[in-house]
This record gives sequence, C-alpha cells and structure tokens, in this order.
Amino acid sequence: MRAIFLLLAVSIFGAFCSPIPSISDDVYSDPICPGNIKNLWLDVVVVVRNTLTQVLGSISTIGPVKYPADPRSTCVGVVTYDDNATTQSQLDASKSFSDLYNVIQSSLTAVDSTNTSYLSLALLAAEKALKDGRNRTYRFNYKKVIIAFAADYQGQGTALDAMPIANRLKDNAVTIITVACTSNSDKQAAIQGIASPGFDLVDEMDTPKLVKQLTNALLSANCFCPEEWIQYRSDPNNSTSTQYGICVRGYKATGGSYGYQHAIDYCASAVPGAYLANEFSLNKHAFMIKYMETTWAWEFSPVEYFIGLSYQHNQWVWEQTTGQARIPLDPNGFSMWAPGYPQKNSTDQVIAIQQWSGHPKQEYFWAPPQTNDWLFICQVQSSSTEHYTNYLEN
Ligand SMILES: *[C@@H]1O[C@H](CO)[C@@H](O)[C@H](O)[C@H]1NC(C)=O
Ligand SMILES: *[C@@H]1O[C@H](CO)[C@@H](O)[C@H](O)[C@H]1NC(C)=O
Ligand SMILES: *[C@@H]1O[C@H](CO)[C@@H](O)[C@H](O)[C@H]1NC(C)=O
Ligand SMILES: *[C@@H]1O[C@H](CO)[C@@H](O)[C@H](O)[C@H]1NC(C)=O
Ligand SMILES: *[C@@H]1O[C@H](CO)[C@@H](O)[C@H](O)[C@H]1NC(C)=O
Ligand SMILES: *[C@@H]1O[C@H](CO)[C@@H](O)[C@H](O)[C@H]1NC(C)=O
Repeated sequence: MRAIFLLLAVSIFGAFCSPIPSISDDVYSDPICPGNIKNLWLDVVVVVRNTLTQVLGSISTIGPVKYPADPRSTCVGVVTYDDNATTQSQLDASKSFSDLYNVIQSSLTAVDSTNTSYLSLALLAAEKALKDGRNRTYRFNYKKVIIAFAADYQGQGTALDAMPIANRLKDNAVTIITVACTSNSDKQAAIQGIASPGFDLVDEMDTPKLVKQLTNALLSANCFCPEEWIQYRSDPNNSTSTQYGICVRGYKATGGSYGYQHAIDYCASAVPGAYLANEFSLNKHAFMIKYMETTWAWEFSPVEYFIGLSYQHNQWVWEQTTGQARIPLDPNGFSMWAPGYPQKNSTDQVIAIQQWSGHPKQEYFWAPPQTNDWLFICQVQSSSTEHYTNYLEN
C-alpha cells in the first residue's frame, strides 16, 4: 500500500504539471494566480507519522542552489513522529528527488512501536528544521510550508497540544497544510483546526484526488504577497476563495501638500513594481472598498481614497508599473462614475473613491488637492511559481 501510494503520487504529479495559463494578454482582466508545480520555490518540511507515507514529486529543483541563474528551487525536510519527533532529513539535505525519496523510504522502515503520537512535537521539530535550514542556506525569501499528515490529534488541552505551536508558526507566516488521514470526523476537525485557512485536506483514500489537492495547495502557498499587503480574492468575505495574482495595500499620506504624484512615487518605493491600484471589475472595486474600510474606518469617515485613475493628455488613464505606459480607461469596461461625472473640464483631475450622498456605493469623484491627511491604495503583482520575488526578505 505504501509503495503504491508513492508510485502513484509520482506518476500523478506529472499529470498535473501542465502550466495553468498565466497572465492574460487582456490588460483589462485581473490574472488568477498562475502556477506550475515544476517551478515551485518554497521551503517545505513534511511531517509524517511513522506509519504513514506522503507525496512529493515532480519539483524540478530540490535542494538549495547557490547563486543560480534561476533562483526558484524547493527545499524539503522530513520529520517523523510518534511519541517523539525525529528530523529524518534536514531542509538542505535533499539535493534531488531520489534523495528525498530515499529519506522517505528509510524513515518509513522504522516500524511504529507505539500508539501514541504528538503532532506538537513534530511541529516543533519542523520549526527547528526550517530555522536551522535557513541559517545554513540563507534562503530568506522563500515561503515556509509544513505539510502535516496526521491520523490523530492527541494532547489536546495539555502541554503537548499542537494548537499553540501551530498558531505561533502561522503568525510567523508559515503555511501549514494538514492532511487528516482518518475518517473520524471529530479527529478530522481537530486536525483541520491547526491548518492555515483553506489548507486543510482530508485523505479520502483517493490518492489522485489528494495529490491534486496537495499540488494546488503548494501552488497556492507559493502565491503570496509582501508582508502587510493583502491578496485580492474573488470574494472579499471569504479568505479561502480564488486568489488573484494581485496584492493591494492602502497608505495614508500625511499632510495635504502632497499631490497625486506623491502617491505614485510612494507606491513605487514601497515595493518594487507597485503602482496606484486600478479597478477593472466591480468585484475588485468591492474588494478594495471592504479592505480599505476594514483598515481605515477607525481613522477616516467616510473612507475615501485615491485610485490610479487620472486625466492626462485628454484621456482617462490607469497607472501602470513605473516605466510602462499608462493604459486608457476602457470606455466599455467597468467604471463607477458618480452622477454627473466625468465632466468636460476635467484637465489634470484625478479620481478618488468617495461617498456620494444618497448613494450606497462608493463612486468615482474628482479629487481636489488635499488639505489634510488622505488615503491611497497601491497594487503589485503577487509572487507565484512563475514570478520570483524578494517579498519576504524585508
Ligand atoms: C526524544 O528524542 C530525543 C533525541 O532523540 C531524546 O533526547 C528525548 O529524550 C526523547 N524524548 C522522549 C519523550 O522520549
Ligand atoms: C495504546 O495501546 C494500549 C494497548 O495496546 C491501550 O491500552 C491504550 O489505551 C492505547 N492508547 C491510546 C492512546 O490509544
Ligand atoms: C546560525 O549559525 C551560526 C553560526 O553560523 C550560529 O552561531 C547560530 O547559533 C545559528 N543560529 C541558529 C538559530 O541555529
Ligand atoms: C460581504 O459581507 C458584507 C456584510 O458583511 C455584505 O454587505 C457584502 O455584500 C458581502 N460581499 C459579498 C461579495 O458577498
Ligand atoms: C469560500 O470559498 C471556497 C472556495 O471557493 C468555498 O469552497 C467555500 O465554501 C467558501 N466559503 C464560504 C463561507 O462561502
Ligand atoms: C467643472 O464644471 C462644473 C460644472 O459643469 C463645475 O461645477 C466645476 O466646478 C468645474 N470644475 C473645475 C475644476 O473647473
């Protein structure tokens, strides 16, 4: 069963390797996070009960590579656990998939001699493996991921409870993927409780399905934003809904003397490639409103902010990353003009999202020169398997 599981995993991983179409040529659409498992660049520790096995394959580069032409590579460590946890493979020990495969195989030959297992010990060992590995490899900008296979959740409410450790890891931007290998729904729920949102998998004894889910989970973990930026999602109320390859962040400009150009410059200096945000759909408009209100309502009422729309050389244009030409507002695309706008005398005007009296939705409105503190929103391309970044280095 064990060998079959691994073999299947290796072959099936291959089947899911075809790249998801990446950024569309259509400049007016927001790209879904692209992903190709071959280009994964993560630091992964697999946590596995001695009697279980796990899957990981088809990643083209395993193991740290110093100053490579293509910096995208994935390091994999393995921790096995029962009533104690053993680091079977240090993060930077595996230099190829066959190395990893051997590590897994040998770690599985140790027969489980006990029916006690503490995920907490495994998580601690994984945390240490990630920390020690980073110290040796200097892979500071690689997202840390723990894949935890668990059939049981023991030690709840005791000093051996995994929850506080999981919470600490998640607070430190580690993604925890859990795979509950049990049909007991109480145990499943307990195991799922330690996962990062949306990363709680259940082994339904359907290996192809599980491998596909794990692949998607890893691709999704590789799609991340700079610290304190948030990822644009299809549903602003659902942190596990479809993620786009776009990150946004709102900022406050203190002092009214700065104008629109200040906001442009500020975005560009906050994160390389960032620019004042555009709105190509009602969905993104609504997402950004919700985010800005959640972030700023304590200080600003109503919450009004600049987006990257301005009138330049006789047309309305959206900002782009520095060095790229601005793109014209699509006359047939989304916009949210307030009543009576845009007006003809609009030279040099820029646009803010403002509350228009009598209207429930926030709409586009002239932004006169600001006299007090004011808000603006920037966007930047998220990292992904197809887009290597230094977002985690800062
Ligand atoms: C777990 O293993 C470590 C090293 O292998 C050992 O020092 C420690 O005493 C063990 N803990 C338990 C509870 O067996
Ligand atoms: C472990 O197994 C022993 C007997 O084999 C049993 O008495 C004990 O209850 C089991 N413990 C757990 C946590 O399942
Ligand atoms: C990192 O490595 C240095 C030596 O290279 C060592 O002094 C230090 O204790 C290590 N830190 C951790 C957290 O292992
Ligand atoms: C999100 O929730 C708010 C209420 O909290 C609701 O007004 C809004 O319509 C919801 N958005 C979506 C896309 O469901
Ligand atoms: C959130 O989105 C995910 C993925 O689309 C979906 O499976 C889940 O049911 C959604 N949750 C809620 C509360 O709508
Ligand atoms: C533009 O024209 C409208 C009337 O059509 C007027 O209310 C507004 O003040 C004018 N704006 C500027 C900047 O001149």
